[in-house]
Amino acid sequence: MSILKGTTALVTGASSGLGVDFAKNLASRGCNLILVARREELLKSVQQEITTQYGVEVDVITLDLSTQDAPQQLYDQIKEVGKQVDVLVNNAGFGLYGEFINIDWERERNMLELDILTLVHMTKLFTKDMIARNFGFVLQVASIGAYQPSPLYASYSAAKSFVLNFGEALNYELRNTNVKVSVISPGITATEFLKVSGQRPTLYQRMAMMQSPEVVQIAVEAMLKGKPSIVPGLMNAITAWANRLMPRRMSAAVSHRLMQSEATH
Ligand SMILES: NC(=O)c1ccc[n+]([C@@H]2O[C@H](COP(=O)([O-])OP(=O)(O)OC[C@H]3O[C@@H](n4cnc5c(N)ncnc54)[C@H](OP(=O)(O)O)[C@@H]3O)[C@@H](O)[C@H]2O)c1
Repeated sequence: MSILKGTTALVTGASSGLGVDFAKNLASRGCNLILVARREELLKSVQQEITTQYGVEVDVITLDLSTQDAPQQLYDQIKEVGKQVDVLVNNAGFGLYGEFINIDWERERNMLELDILTLVHMTKLFTKDMIARNFGFVLQVASIGAYQPSPLYASYSAAKSFVLNFGEALNYELRNTNVKVSVISPGITATEFLKVSGQRPTLYQRMAMMQSPEVVQIAVEAMLKGKPSIVPGLMNAITAWANRLMPRRMSAAVSHRLMQSEATH
């Protein structure tokens, strides 16, 4: 029987892409779910599909997580209905593609708020309760971009480097507890990511593209083992490993080469 049976998982960004598959994967292991994103219709259809297929409880909360107050608001709302979160999947996030100087500051600030500050605040709020109960899992969604300087995704990838280092450090801090923090750093995965970031996929991306259910399965298995970090897929793992060996300027140049394509907005 899965250790997750009867627990509750909070999945952010569960209206599309990896978040939908995290929700399905965790439901298949007997987790009840709280799903959060902005697009209510999509959340409701995910809720209906999962309830029918897996018979677990699924609550949906429509919320923009890129505002300063959102994590506390979400935490209070969950407490108010008497629920506890045993698994936190900090998945909501997006990237912005293009030359740094051409990216609109408001959109970039919004991205950094969601990808960094919200993730840290959510982790602080929910991990404290997990530690008090001495049980829980936190899964931070970073990116393979976290492993190198990434021209054309400069601030997005730097944000994901933050997530990677933050998650791995926390995994170590909590090593003597039953609260496990893991970081998944996916490479390009077939979701709405590129549509939102505004990049036409490169040949490299089309070749390396993984499917979301596979990435999620690897992530959840790693999380259950309490691994600090995982890069899914052989090609991605080799890329991350090679980046650690290369001079950083060379690493930036290779990344630039691989990411060069047309911006779609
Ligand atoms: N796909 C890839 O190639 C790839 C690679 C590496 C890392 N990642 C990371 O994987 C995570 C999931 O992305 P994805 O690939 O599944 O992309 P996606 O299909 O675009 O999903 C992103 C999710 O985040 C939610 N979200 C975005 N802004 C939000 C906000 N302000 N408040 C609440 N929810 C918000 C979206 O829901 P709403 O729009 O409904 O709010 C959606 O459910 C992200 O952290 C991304 O950086 C993706």
